[in-house]
Amino acid sequence: MSNRFLLRDALAEFPPYVPGKPPVSSPGLTPYKLSSNENHLPPLPGVLDALTAAAAVPANYPDPTAAALVADIADRLDVDPAEVVPGAGASEILSALTNITLESGTSVVYPWPSFEMYPILASARGAEKRPVALLPDGRHDFAGLAAAIDDTTRLVLLCSPNNPTGPTIADAELEGFLAEVPDNVIVVLDEAYLEFASEAADGLAARKKHANLVLARTFSKAYGLAGLRVGYGVADVEIATALRQVIAPFSVTAPAQAAARESLARIDEVAVRAKEVAAVRDRFAHDLRELGFDVPDAQGNYVWIALDPEAAVAFEGACAEQAVAVRRLQGGVRVSIGPDEALDRVLKVAAAARP
Ligand SMILES: Cc1ncc(COP(=O)(O)O)c(C=O)c1O
Repeated sequence: MSNRFLLRDALAEFPPYVPGKPPVSSPGLTPYKLSSNENHLPPLPGVLDALTAAAAVPANYPDPTAAALVADIADRLDVDPAEVVPGAGASEILSALTNITLESGTSVVYPWPSFEMYPILASARGAEKRPVALLPDGRHDFAGLAAAIDDTTRLVLLCSPNNPTGPTIADAELEGFLAEVPDNVIVVLDEAYLEFASEAADGLAARKKHANLVLARTFSKAYGLAGLRVGYGVADVEIATALRQVIAPFSVTAPAQAAARESLARIDEVAVRAKEVAAVRDRFAHDLRELGFDVPDAQGNYVWIALDPEAAVAFEGACAEQAVAVRRLQGGVRVSIGPDEALDRVLKVAAAARP
């Protein structure tokens, strides 16, 4: 590390966040980015107008509490507005959760592979990282997660549907696990892709019994607002108050607040679109399995193809030649659901690479 500035030594150990690559252009082929689990559908009707109106006075700060958005979310979920914490994406909520719980000498338990931010945030807080390997079918190993908790553990992260592998957590699994976790340890259920799932644990219901359960949600995926950066946490009032202490004021911009409110008002359309994406995902996953690939239960807006490292490099490269960017991670390749033309090209690559 450089000696020029008094930076933390730990920075050298931070795992890098590798964003999804943009597609490489290829003559005659429309490029597609299926590497960041973005929503490929056009904006919901009304959202662009709401954005324009909210951006009319860029000189003004937004409402720092996002009170109207918080009220809409609380109303929709039937929770107390004091339990809703808005942030610049679920990422900011996850970051704040690590900020209020972790420090040197503490530990955080999470499944792995899962969302890449988890180990990065743990490193940022100087906490011990305790990744627990997923089961072979891409699901959380709850016995392993419970066994990894000790009296240094301040935070447990769960992801349903799990990014990148795809399966959700079931109600019984969540309930059984929460019954084992000390009730002063915060457990986060990251539900970034919940709207695409046909079956998933009901985090809202579980919270009623377990005050240490916090939900992390986002408008980035099913609502298609990733570029605006808006998400929220649902947490016990004491935890929510701590979260507000560490989140930067004004982090959710006025256009983001307005677009999220407009989208919530159109939640039925959001649900229809999420179902459309899920139907395409199911067909795509089925076709890949028919070709002989190992594809776990896919419940998000993406499909995981388990591959050995060499095959994953080859698969990613063959997709790039077709002007399609997919995401290669440890243990395989993740393909976000996109337009049919893009998925057809991936299927062509898969047919040529069948195991
Ligand atoms: C599992 C999971 N959680 C949280 C996020 C963060 O989403 P955002 O910060 O855009 O709300 C992502 C983004 O890809 C994700 O995959």
